[in-house]
This record gives sequence, C-alpha cells and structure tokens, in this order.
Amino acid sequence: MLPVLHASADALLKRIRRTSFYYQRWNNTLAFSINNAYGRYARECAARYAAEHGTMDLPPSPLQEKGAAYFPRIFPADKARAYSQTITELLERNDSVVERPKESDLAARIRAPLRTLGTDILDAVRAPAIHDALLRFFRGHYRIEWITCFRTFPAKRVAGSWLWHSDSFPPHTCKLFLHLTPANVETGATEFMTLADTMAYRRAGYFGQFKDERFANLEEFAAAHHLPYRPFHFDAEPGDGTLFDMNFFHRAVRPEHAFRDVIQFYFLPSPIPWEQQYERDVEKLMAVTGNFPKNPRPGASVTASSQSMMM
Ligand SMILES: [Fe+2]
Repeated sequence: MLPVLHASADALLKRIRRTSFYYQRWNNTLAFSINNAYGRYARECAARYAAEHGTMDLPPSPLQEKGAAYFPRIFPADKARAYSQTITELLERNDSVVERPKESDLAARIRAPLRTLGTDILDAVRAPAIHDALLRFFRGHYRIEWITCFRTFPAKRVAGSWLWHSDSFPPHTCKLFLHLTPANVETGATEFMTLADTMAYRRAGYFGQFKDERFANLEEFAAAHHLPYRPFHFDAEPGDGTLFDMNFFHRAVRPEHAFRDVIQFYFLPSPIPWEQQYERDVEKLMAVTGNFPKNPRPGASVTASSQSMMM
C-alpha cells in the first residue's frame, strides 16, 4: 500500500511542478527544497554584498526578461583561435582528454579545460562587461561551479540539446559561453526565446524538458496555438561571450559546415568574490561536470543531475 501512496504522491508533485504557478515562480521543475535552498542562499549572498558595499544603483539584468545577452570581445580573439586550434589537435590525435558523449556525431567534449587549454580562459570572467553583467544578475558575488568545453559538428540529424528545450537548473544560476570560433546562422549559433515567449509556449502545452517531448521545430506548434515564433540569436566571433539563463527555451543549432567551439562556465551565487572561491575550488574545477549541487553552499558535495549538460 505504501509504495502505491508514494507513487501517487510523486505523480502529484510532478504535476504541481509542471503548473504555470510553479514555472512562474521557479522556471524549472526541480524539487521545492532545492529551489528554496537556492533562493535563500542567493538572498543571503546579495544581502551580504549590500551590507559590504552599500546601496547599489544596479539596473536589472537583461537575463530576467530576455534570457540571453551578448558581449563582444571579452577575450583576445587570437588566443580564442589558438585554443580552437589546440582542440583540433587534441581531436586529431584522439587525446585522452577528448570525451565522446552519446551524441558523438553531434559534439565532442574536452575534459578539464582549465588544465587542457590553460587558466587564461578565466580572463573571460575577468572582463569588466562580464563582471558587471554577473553583478546585475546575482546582485552580489558569484562563483564558478564548473567549466566545460565542447566542439559542435555539422551532423545531419538533431537530438537532445539541438531540439527546443529548457534545462531544469536551479534559480539564481546562469551560464556563459566563451566562443572560440565564429557562431552565426551558418556555423551554429544557439537560438533563444524570451521569458514571455517561453511561458506562452508552456501555457499552450509545450515544455521540451525531457528528451522525448522535445521538437526540432516549433513553427507548426506556434501556428496551431496562435503563438509568435520569434527566436533570436547572436552572431559571435572568437573571443565574444553569450550569457544566458538556460531555463528559458533555447536550442543548439548544428553548423552547416566547419564546427563551433565553446567554453562554458556555470555560475552560482557566492558570499565572496569568485577569485577567492576559485583558490579553494581549483582542484574541483579540473573535473568535468554538468551537474549542480543540491545545496548551493560551497563544500556541500551532493549533486543532482541536470537534464541538459551542453547547451
Ligand atoms: Fe540546454
């Protein structure tokens, strides 16, 4: 009897997390306890920052409504191209740092980019425009939780992150792409939707969360439900950055030719500047991950898996 009760309670919880109310509040379908822990921690970190720095006259983050923002030249272009060349060499010799995930015809991952490519990649986070944008997003300090690196290939089929979806990461977290190659319509620029459009599609019944419910194309769904179809993307050059909230709808676009290289940083709130936290986390940051901790406080090691590691 008890397992039956558990199963139906579980099903009910899942349905609650799929309601507009829950999505409006958290923009994901994670357990309330995780969302609550991140909400509380983000408020604590922001309050500490405000106490230390006084009243801030910060404009709201563009990520709140638009979901994504573009930052040109956050990193030297020649260095970005050199990193892309290193990735080519690693792939050519099938180096042990090259990881071929299940969708290996679509992308390859480079393990431990801090070690494989070098700690200079952190300069992207040091760019004043990125610091300013992260400050606006977190209203305080932030830390790097992990760094991944991947190359996207011009494969014929699409799957997973190449379909319209939203990740289910905790609130008050975001990602930065540092582009190492051009990313445009031909070379695979990620497409995004605003919060308003994301919510409109969810209200009409499209969630695109689990892999078996994702569509490659939403134009037909949009027409059938009288919704606007207006995804946007940024044309990026090597050394440019894209900051985004991965819980809004987005999809990776496969390159028509060549490939696309990206280094991805995942950020959490922090009570201290990221460089201080980095000194403590440097070993951990060498490990490849794509998960988030259930408890956002540093040192809490229990992780929950994310539904979409890549983009
Ligand atoms: Fe994603």
